[in-house]
Amino acid sequence: MYYNWKKTTNTDELKVICNLIKNGELIIFPTETVYGIGANALDSKAVGKIFLAKGRASDNPLIVHIANKDSIDKIAEDITDVENKLIDTFMPGPFTIILKKRKDVIPDNVTCGLDTVAVRMPRNIIAKTIITFSGVPIAAPSANISGKPSGTNIEDIRKELESKVSAIIDGGDSEIGLESTVVKVIDEVPVVLRPGKITPEQIREVIGDVRIDNNVFGKIKNDEKVESPGMKYKHYAPVTKCELIYGEDERDLVFEISKRVRKFEGNIVVIGFKEHRKDIRISEERFLGIASNNNLEDYGKNIFSALRKADKIGANLIVIEGVKKEGLGIAIMNRLLRTCDYNYFECST
Ligand code: TXA
Ligand code: MG
Repeated sequence: MYYNWKKTTNTDELKVICNLIKNGELIIFPTETVYGIGANALDSKAVGKIFLAKGRASDNPLIVHIANKDSIDKIAEDITDVENKLIDTFMPGPFTIILKKRKDVIPDNVTCGLDTVAVRMPRNIIAKTIITFSGVPIAAPSANISGKPSGTNIEDIRKELESKVSAIIDGGDSEIGLESTVVKVIDEVPVVLRPGKITPEQIREVIGDVRIDNNVFGKIKNDEKVESPGMKYKHYAPVTKCELIYGEDERDLVFEISKRVRKFEGNIVVIGFKEHRKDIRISEERFLGIASNNNLEDYGKNIFSALRKADKIGANLIVIEGVKKEGLGIAIMNRLLRTCDYNYFECST
């Protein structure tokens, strides 16, 4: 069933949606980051359906979504001062914290047998309402087939997942477009396992210290032990081969991209900042300008839908303009490096 939230003003429909969750069905719902594909986090059978629907590896744990801070104590324990400070500062919001898991509440398939649990409290009003009225925590990964870009708009999601869930709730395009910042506190230092809208700098301001996990930009070796299992897997990738290009100097960067457009034998699509199209010398049909004037918020918001669009144009190569690894740029580059499977070129100045 498809529900447009703006028109779902009557409580009967909300009841239907929440009953689906209570009864162990899957629903797709919006959050401020990306859409989630959710199930009752207390029901291991329902959670199993998420893994099946996404084709997700069984050792990649899920985030548990809650609607208020009191719920955290029900699923996690031994919360430290540093963790509490992060929770108080960044929740609700685009922030996930890995905590020590309380025994016998959240089933093992949510956390894939780990003794930790990922907890997130979305600030999106639709997500909040559904969690509150369902009366249970909701386990939810991003709404996409595993390995594909996360779902940030309803058309993409319906095409990919509609047949696999009991309800889809349309809340418009995702506000942020990149998944939440995932943090684990290790020896009292917050470690960013996955960068997002909440930046390492913001975390440092609150705690006085922060670390970015090596795997955020590095390529993971086959047998390497990682803090966050999701980092091991192929991610955010269109079918078409991609190349990521960045240069501190904008002219160098534009020159490198235009060189590829001239020399590549085959169809090329470029994703970049609108102002650069003319200098790259590419036709409008093959250029996806997803933001203006170095606006990283817009770049992050539109990148996943652009990757899907670029795939549909039917190119042999997608060239993506990179951004500076600073602020939100850290999250954008983390996703794009994986999108391109580390096929990355940096212009030297
Ligand atoms: O913004 C988001 O976080 C979205 C929305 C729907 O909330 N969700 C999302 O979930 O991106 P997913 O499953 O696509 O990504 C969750 C990431 C994965 O990389 C997973 O490995 C990691 O969080 N994770 C989950 N539980 C963990 C744990 N106990 N320890 C370490 N990493 C964990
Ligand atoms: Mg995901």
